[in-house]
Order: sequence, then C-alpha cells, then structure tokens
Amino acid sequence: MLKKEIESALNAQILIEAESSQIYLAMASWAETQGLGGTAQFLYKHSDEERIHMLKLVQYVNERGGKAVVPALPKPGEEYESLNNLFQTLLDHEVMVSNEINNLVEICLQQKDYTTHNFMQWYVAEQIEEEALARTIMDKLRMIGADKGGLYLFDRDIESISMATTGSVSQ
Ligand SMILES: [Fe+2]
Ligand SMILES: [Fe+2]
Repeated sequence: MLKKEIESALNAQILIEAESSQIYLAMASWAETQGLGGTAQFLYKHSDEERIHMLKLVQYVNERGGKAVVPALPKPGEEYESLNNLFQTLLDHEVMVSNEINNLVEICLQQKDYTTHNFMQWYVAEQIEEEALARTIMDKLRMIGADKGGLYLFDRDIESISMATTGSVSQ
C-alpha cells in the first residue's frame, strides 16, 4: 500500500508528464504549420513518449493500492519565435522535469519506500537521455544560426536523431 505522501508525489508527477505531452503536442503542431515536417514528427513522437511516462505512473499508483488522478491541463503556448526558441523551451522544461524527479526520489528515501525508489530509477535514466538529446539539438541549432540550408538539413535529419537516440529508452 502506498503512503499518502508517495501517492500525492506520484500524482504530481503524473500531471508533469501529462503536461509535457501536451506542450510537445502544441510544439509539433506549430512546427507542422511552419513547414518543418521533420521537426513536427520528432515532436509528435516525443509527445507520445511523455504520455507513456504518464501512463506508467498511473498504472504503478493503482497497482500499489493508490488512486491515480488524471489531471486537467493548462493550455500550452501556441507560438514560438523560432526553432531555437522552441528547443530552448523544451530543454528548460526537461531540466525542470529532472529536478522534480530528483525531488520525488528524495521523498521515496525519506519515506523509506524502496519499491517506488526502484521504480523511479527508470525515470532518472530517461531524464539523462532526454536532457542530453535536447542539449545536442541546441548545440546543432547554435551552429546552424540563421543559415537556411542548415535549417533545411536540420529538419530533414531530426527524425533520424529521434529514432537513433530514443530507441533504447522508449517502451
Ligand atoms: Fe517524461
Ligand atoms: Fe521528457
């Protein structure tokens, strides 16, 4: 049986993962309307992955005798100044998520819930991958700058970046 503290911390994380999925869906849709088809596909897939992260938490909470809460979500932003701006927002968001996951792991230790602590290790590893991927993308975008040819190639190649990098971590 889950302790109340753990149950509410996991439900807070369910909201964060659901919100991540919603934000990346909005980003994908924006990219699609800008003619950035590769970036859109990357972000649609990323949105799906965040939904899977949420789902794993929902099922874990219920399996352990808790009650998962499916939350209402705030409306995500619709407009981005640039690809650079979009991916910086994504990187900042992932850093925030990593911090929240670290807090959750800390609560597990305080509450001596070693089962949930063990379960959360998957999220810790996943965050390392996602942050690294977001930083790699930002490095590429900084290198490209305003070069249109570079942006064209970036949009073409980002689909394969996602496949190669997340293949090992997505479920
Ligand atoms: Fe996630
Ligand atoms: Fe993420």
